[in-house]
Amino acid sequence: MDFLDWFAICLANAQLPDQQDTSVNSPGKHIVVTATYETLRLHREGQAMAFDAIGDRYDEAFPHKERQVLAGEWLIKSLPTGSRVLDLGCGTGVPTARQLLDAGLEVVGVDLSAVMVKLAREHVQGATFHQLELADLRPGGPRDLGRFQAVAAFFSLLMLPRVEIPLALATVRHLLAPGGLFALSMVEADVDDFPVPFLGNTIRVSGYLREELRMVVEAAGFTIVQETSSACVPAVADVLPEEQIFLCCELRG
Ligand SMILES: C[S@@+](CC[C@H](N)C(=O)[O-])C[C@H]1O[C@@H](n2cnc3c(N)ncnc32)[C@H](O)[C@@H]1O
Repeated sequence: MDFLDWFAICLANAQLPDQQDTSVNSPGKHIVVTATYETLRLHREGQAMAFDAIGDRYDEAFPHKERQVLAGEWLIKSLPTGSRVLDLGCGTGVPTARQLLDAGLEVVGVDLSAVMVKLAREHVQGATFHQLELADLRPGGPRDLGRFQAVAAFFSLLMLPRVEIPLALATVRHLLAPGGLFALSMVEADVDDFPVPFLGNTIRVSGYLREELRMVVEAAGFTIVQETSSACVPAVADVLPEEQIFLCCELRG
């Protein structure tokens, strides 16, 4: 059995824990979102430590980020110059915060990892970065960064347990000004809070198959106006290949 076979078996065996009832209504599935941040205990230490350790090596894993750059271009061409954009889970700031800043947008980035925030500040001078837990930005939460014309969340919401993803999307909705735009990327995988090896560390990831992802995003109040995906092969040995999905969305209502 090679590594990919092993991983496929792990994915097939991964299931939602019984006590979670986060999901959406779909043919053959009826799932209701009942979780609130107040009922959850957030476990972030492992993720923060992993991304602190991964640091600059993060950008080695998938150096070809054409689709992410295209999603950034969608934001740029859709927004007036000077619009405020939030890069949620900004990582090293490359490519997205830098791309948006270079295009004349006002960029604020947040990330859980102190090392990532430090790298982003070095890489993207002229943007503002905060070391923050995204749940702190929730409606009524401890931090208020104001409203944004757009939010980008590239591969950051997949770092949350599934039960929190609808809550994070509600936070994105709260952060957006009326008519705001949302660019999201996820990895296509039917997993919940599942440990995967990444650059010598273990990170925990969640995902959906693409139909369910669409439903989760639409149920959170977004209209998907563009969707692209691609199979990505990492440039290093200790990272798994993945199917990446990019959704360009508008806030409904
Ligand atoms: C896979 S990286 C993506 C980085 C960047 N968006 C990119 O596309 O290159 C995920 C990032 O999300 C951050 N992150 C994970 N959980 C977070 C949370 N709860 N709040 C804020 N940032 C978080 C991690 O520290 C990491 O930098």
